[in-house]
Amino acid sequence: MSDGPTYGFDTLQIHAGARPDPATGARQTPIYQTTAYVFRDADHAAALFNLQEVGFIYSRLTNPTVAVLQERVATLEGGVGAVCCSSGHAAQIMALFPLMGPGCNVVASTRLYGGTVTQFSQTIKRFGWSAKFVDTDDLDAVKAAIDDNTRAVFCESVANPGGYVTDIRALADVADAAQIPLIVDNTSATPYLCRPIEQGATLVVHSTTKYLTGNGTVTGGCIVDSGQFDWSASGKFPSLSEPEPAYHGLKFHETFGPLAFTFHGIAIGLRDLGMTMNPQAAHYTLMGIETLSLRMQRHVENAEKVAAWLEADPRVDYVTYAGLPSSPYAERAQRCYPKGTGGLFTFAVKGGYDACVKLVNALEIFSHVANLGDTRSLIIHSASTTHRQLTLEQQEAAGAAPNVVRVSIGIEDPDDLIADLDQALAKATA
Ligand SMILES: Cc1ncc(COP(=O)(O)O)c(C=O)c1O
Repeated sequence: MSDGPTYGFDTLQIHAGARPDPATGARQTPIYQTTAYVFRDADHAAALFNLQEVGFIYSRLTNPTVAVLQERVATLEGGVGAVCCSSGHAAQIMALFPLMGPGCNVVASTRLYGGTVTQFSQTIKRFGWSAKFVDTDDLDAVKAAIDDNTRAVFCESVANPGGYVTDIRALADVADAAQIPLIVDNTSATPYLCRPIEQGATLVVHSTTKYLTGNGTVTGGCIVDSGQFDWSASGKFPSLSEPEPAYHGLKFHETFGPLAFTFHGIAIGLRDLGMTMNPQAAHYTLMGIETLSLRMQRHVENAEKVAAWLEADPRVDYVTYAGLPSSPYAERAQRCYPKGTGGLFTFAVKGGYDACVKLVNALEIFSHVANLGDTRSLIIHSASTTHRQLTLEQQEAAGAAPNVVRVSIGIEDPDDLIADLDQALAKATA
């Protein structure tokens, strides 16, 4: 299909980036299961290695199946380019890598996936980077946390596990004023429910493992670049604005303009960090994305029904779903997420930790797994699993207190999901 901003989301989720295979006419994007690509001649090879010509060299850097997925996600997010990688966690490191250096920090929301809190509070210290966690609803606290060494603000649009919703526009204004990029993890919302770039985000990261693939088959990640950030203005981003020794002094921003971040992600990030997505994974994710809008509509519809039922149940203390009219986030949800706030939320079970453990054991349709964004309904007791490395204070700040379970509502018959929760709650609170 020819490029055109006139196509709707439902069309783009099927067609963007893909065209019939030029060699065979295959309608579905083939899985290019190859490590390397034959150069036309020695000059062609040299031009590719000098970044003077765009093409395929080696599948650690680029692969035609993965390239289709990159273009598809970039288009759906409204970005200029994207880099896919091996997991959502890889995408986060890949997003920070060109921005940070020893002594630099990222100002991050307290409401993040527990694995991200661990990655940011522990692992990135090994690179000499650090994170400052703030409540991103408190814009003054965000402003106060940003210092001369801050290189990015990081949040989730719809936060895992609580399903809390972020006012991206307000946060982007703070980041803009400080001349630093806002990075939004849009995993739980997906571009169907939220397009962070339209609200001022510089970069969007995804765990494609979740809703984009949609059925729990492969891990993957993606970083989408808005192409709108001036990497040279402040002198804070030398990897993008200054000469790159490994490419004979090439300056990424000067040479590639709005595509600087994307080219850097491939030519330096994937080349040297090697967190590459394999073409099989890209294939599964491309299959999943074709039905993204249909699934997200159903995830939202089901989550609204299940959350409302749970809220009315006396065995449940509270439900955090931002799509409930009673949520403190209801106004923001309607303003910033008019198509709904996704399928992810937590609820607190009367009876605390023990009741939560009994509940997850008693459920029959819900699977007890460390994943979200599947067609199947999933549940997890975060405090004893994904968030167990965190302190009690961090668990509570992240919405994963010991009396809370997280659900990822699937696209099954909602009455069956409610019946399953009903029988399991009876056993958990007997
Ligand atoms: C919101 C969010 N971001 C990032 C990740 C990390 O993704 P992955 O497991 O693909 O590394 C997860 C995983 O659960 C997540 O929920």
